[in-house]
Amino acid sequence: MPAEMLVAGNWKMNTTIVEGVQLANALRNAIEPSDGVDVLVCPPAVSVGYVADTLEGSGIQVGAQHMYWERAGAFTGEISPRMLAELCSHVIVGHSERRQHFGETNVSANLRVKAALEHNMAPILCVGETLVENEAGRTGEVVGQQVRAGLEGIPPVDASELVLAYEPVWAIGTGKAATPDDAAKVIEHTIRPALEFLFDRELSQSILVLYGGSVSPQNAGEFFRVEGIDGALVGGASLRADSFAGIVAAAGG
Ligand code: PGA
Repeated sequence: MPAEMLVAGNWKMNTTIVEGVQLANALRNAIEPSDGVDVLVCPPAVSVGYVADTLEGSGIQVGAQHMYWERAGAFTGEISPRMLAELCSHVIVGHSERRQHFGETNVSANLRVKAALEHNMAPILCVGETLVENEAGRTGEVVGQQVRAGLEGIPPVDASELVLAYEPVWAIGTGKAATPDDAAKVIEHTIRPALEFLFDRELSQSILVLYGGSVSPQNAGEFFRVEGIDGALVGGASLRADSFAGIVAAAGG
C-alpha cells in the first residue's frame, strides 16, 4: 500500500557510481523513514544496483529514470523492465527531457507504463506543458491529452499503482517553480478529471499526483500544504542530502 505522500529524487545524468553511493549513504543518515511519506531516489542506470545495496533496510526506495518496454532481445543499449524489477520499485516515464531530447511520445510513454506495471513497478508518468503552450492557453488541452494517452488501456486494477507527476516544462531546472495554487489548479481541473475519465472516481483518488519543477527545501512546504498535491519529483535539490532531506521533512517525513 503506497503512503499518502511520495517524495522522489531524480538524479538525472549526474553522479558516478562512487558519488551515488556517497549520496545514498548521506541520505541514509539524513532521512528518518516515516509512515505517511514514501521516499524514493532514481539514480542513473549504472548506479541503481549499488545504490539499492547501500539503501537496503533504510526505508528509502530506489527507482529507475528510464527503460525500454520489451522484456528482452536484440535492442542494443536498452534496459528492460525485467532487469530493473529486481532492483526498483518505481520507474520514471515520459519525462519532458526524454520527450525533448530522445523523441519520446505519449504512445511510447503508454508502452512503458504498461511494461512497468506488468513487472510490478509503479510508473511515475510525467506530464506538463511547455512555456509556449502555457502562454497560448493550451495547458489543459496538452496535459489532459498526455494523461489520457499515456494511461490508455490501463486496467482499473492497476490504477492505484500509478503515480502522476505534473511538471511544467518551463519550471524544470530553471529555479522558477509554478505557484502552488497554479499547480493545484492544473491538477484539479485537468489531471484529476482525466484520471476520472479513465478510471472511476474512487480509484482515481488513490493515484498520487506529484508536483515537479524547481522544488527546493524553501518552497516544498508550500506545495505540500496545498490540497491535491501528494508529493514532489525533485531534480537539482535531490543531489544534496541536506536539501533532499529538507524536502522530505517538509512532507512530514
Ligand atoms: P528540477 O527538476 O527539480 O531540477 O527542476 C525536476 C524534474 O525534472 O523532475
